[in-house]
Amino acid sequence: MSEVAFIGLGVMGYPMAAHLQNKGGHKVTVYNRSAARAEQWVAEHGGQKAATPMEAARGKDFVFACVGNDDDLRSVTLGEQGAFHGMESGSVFIDNTTASAEVARELAGEAQEHGFGFIDAPVSGGQAGAENGVLTVMCGGTQDVFDKARPVIEAYARMVGLMGPAGAGQLTKMINQICIAGLVQGLAEGIHFGKKAGLDIEKVIDVISKGAAGSWQMENRHKTMNESRYDFGFAVDWMRKDLGICLAEADRNGASLPVTALVDQFYKDVQAMGGGRWDTSSLLARLARRT
Ligand SMILES: NC(=O)c1ccc[n+]([C@@H]2O[C@H](COP(=O)([O-])OP(=O)(O)OC[C@H]3O[C@@H](n4cnc5c(N)ncnc54)[C@H](OP(=O)(O)O)[C@@H]3O)[C@@H](O)[C@H]2O)c1
Repeated sequence: MSEVAFIGLGVMGYPMAAHLQNKGGHKVTVYNRSAARAEQWVAEHGGQKAATPMEAARGKDFVFACVGNDDDLRSVTLGEQGAFHGMESGSVFIDNTTASAEVARELAGEAQEHGFGFIDAPVSGGQAGAENGVLTVMCGGTQDVFDKARPVIEAYARMVGLMGPAGAGQLTKMINQICIAGLVQGLAEGIHFGKKAGLDIEKVIDVISKGAAGSWQMENRHKTMNESRYDFGFAVDWMRKDLGICLAEADRNGASLPVTALVDQFYKDVQAMGGGRWDTSSLLARLARRT
């Protein structure tokens, strides 16, 4: 059992922190910018709440964060009341935010200078994966720090992998998002085409999902897409943030991402339709609107 802090009790962080406390058996202190959410968490799960990230981090073996983007992450780590000012020597900071590889390298450097470990550990598996404690966690860092952190991370994960040095977890998450972007557009076009052709989409998916076209997105999203339901899941606003990170990294490393860039623009259309908080499968709503 370890002393653990968790910063950022959003859609993902709230259940992840709960798994650390209930499944992992750790002693968890939570911090959330909007204090009511931390109060709710403590009322539901026990544990402690802290008034600042620095206070949450003080004396802990492991400190987790799951906030929005690079700026949010810098604010809760390096800010005046940031967690890095409370980290003990020998402790480990695990960042579950989807952020850039650059910020991961920057924070890993800061951590090393001050004698504690840092792992960039973005996740995949969505809200349901977080709630069920079955996330995929893509880590960047050194082997010794990873070996220390892994058993604790496993409280909310089904798959935990060390992908390389600091930033490699974020780079792997970028590949994850690049693979998803084109695939969801393909699925949206397939369902759109099927409806125009007058076919029974359920029947079509039942057959083709068993063949080479099958995917997680097809399995988990075809039903809601067919019913034009998008008020759940992974928000388009978040996806645009992630694709922006991918495209900026591609500018740096010279990778060509034509489909990713195109789908990013399609998501911009969805935002203009008022769908910023809709699930990423709402690419179908954009196609339906155009005809
Ligand atoms: N949702 C998904 O399906 C999913 C899947 C994989 C990865 N992710 C990634 O996981 C991260 C969190 O996603 P989420 O869905 O949990 O987001 P969310 O529900 O919007 O929660 C964001 C959390 O970060 C906190 N926060 C944001 N900016 C902050 C700041 N400047 N200072 C302090 N706290 C701040 C928020 O505090 P308040 O409560 O005060 O606003 C909230 O606790 C994102 O990087 C996202 O891309 C999400």
